[in-house]
Amino acid sequence: MDKFIIEGGRELNGVVEISGAKNAALPLLAATLLTTEPCTLRNVPDLRDIRTMTALLGELGAQVERSGTEVRCHTQNESLSEAPYDLVRQMRASFCVLGPLLARRGKARVSLPGGCVIGLRPIDLHIKGLRALGAEIKIEHGYILAETKGLRGADIYLGGAFGSTVTGTANVLMAAVLAEGITTIENAACEPEIADLAAFLNAMGAKISGAGTPTLVIEGVKSLGGCDYEVVPDRIEAGTFILAALMTRGDIAIKGARLGHLRAMVDKLAEIGAHVCEDDGLVRVRRGERLAATDATTLPYPGFPTDLQAQLMAALSLADGISVVTEKIYPDRFMHVAELNRMGAQIRKEGPTAIIMGQSELSGAQVMASDLRASAALVLAGLVAKGSTEILRVYHIDRGYDGIEKKLRALGAVIERVKE
Ligand code: EPU
Repeated sequence: MDKFIIEGGRELNGVVEISGAKNAALPLLAATLLTTEPCTLRNVPDLRDIRTMTALLGELGAQVERSGTEVRCHTQNESLSEAPYDLVRQMRASFCVLGPLLARRGKARVSLPGGCVIGLRPIDLHIKGLRALGAEIKIEHGYILAETKGLRGADIYLGGAFGSTVTGTANVLMAAVLAEGITTIENAACEPEIADLAAFLNAMGAKISGAGTPTLVIEGVKSLGGCDYEVVPDRIEAGTFILAALMTRGDIAIKGARLGHLRAMVDKLAEIGAHVCEDDGLVRVRRGERLAATDATTLPYPGFPTDLQAQLMAALSLADGISVVTEKIYPDRFMHVAELNRMGAQIRKEGPTAIIMGQSELSGAQVMASDLRASAALVLAGLVAKGSTEILRVYHIDRGYDGIEKKLRALGAVIERVKE
């Protein structure tokens, strides 16, 4: 398992380009199963999760070819309908093939995703939505068995105890595009990745309106065709680099970030004394000498994203005063707290809330990456800590950040990947 060694305290300068969004590209790749015509996706990040999804598409009869950031998918054999445990356990987003398989092949056998280090992640809303469209679903031997003689449009309320669901909305949307009649999804996820999926499906010939709002209206069509589509830039990668710029105080220009997708974060940073601005397509961060403490709560989009909670916490570890961060999407997503504390942060967890007492500095230490975003928080902390930080198990970060150490090194960071 590879590890990162980071020498902290370097000023970062230069331009960094944001890759395509992992969480947009994954459902888009699954959606290519909705047609037997070839689809070309551009701006696809080169990530472990993307390779897992393309391997799964291969198992499901698609021919997939990558050339640079372009991925061409061509579904040729529609007789297969099983997503095996081996692939789904590596990445929950594999579950996104359920909707397309059901819509196109009338049946699917998809492994249940199982546990996850960031907490319980149920799939009841996926099932509720697909059942409403006329799928018969049962769970047997760790697998979801879904079947239909033909999906029909329905009015579906897709909210649960924690609000909307991103991949649940994706699954139901991908099934509804080929259902007979009109489907309305209320409390649909509003995340830019869902809007991107809707735009992609429309480019394939679907009829979806309301993308980016809580109400999606889908007029079912008989079939979809191939298309050429560019994946939206990754707002979480952009947010991570904005926080890197903020914490290291250098002059980083971030290319390809869409600030419109990061309003909650930009607003939060203004509260702590950092101004994020965009000039000629480049995003920059200006800040005063000290950062102020703040309170932040993660919420579904357009609220503050849970996928930036750990990275924000790394930044608030160095703010003046006491900050309070509450996690409302995954109440157990705090594995990074103990690791940040090993680096000198003072964070106390109380239920789904972390209380962060800002410190004047962090110190390098050996730490363990537990999940994707927790790893990113440790990298940020390592960049500003005194001395050397060793982050073990960085395979987590390879799931979601395309060449993060290369991008940071190009900005002047001293970060090395050691293969073990
Ligand atoms: N939920 C239910 N029932 C369901 C589905 C979800 O109660 O059937 C709950 C979840 O337990 C959670 C909340 O609803 O409390 C939101 O979960 P959601 O379904 O939206 O999460 P997801 O679709 O599994 C995606 C991203 C995550 C991101 C979340 C929240 C992808 C592939 N994954 O997951 O990304 O944290 O939305 O924004 O899009 C990451 O990239 O690091 C990551 C974990």
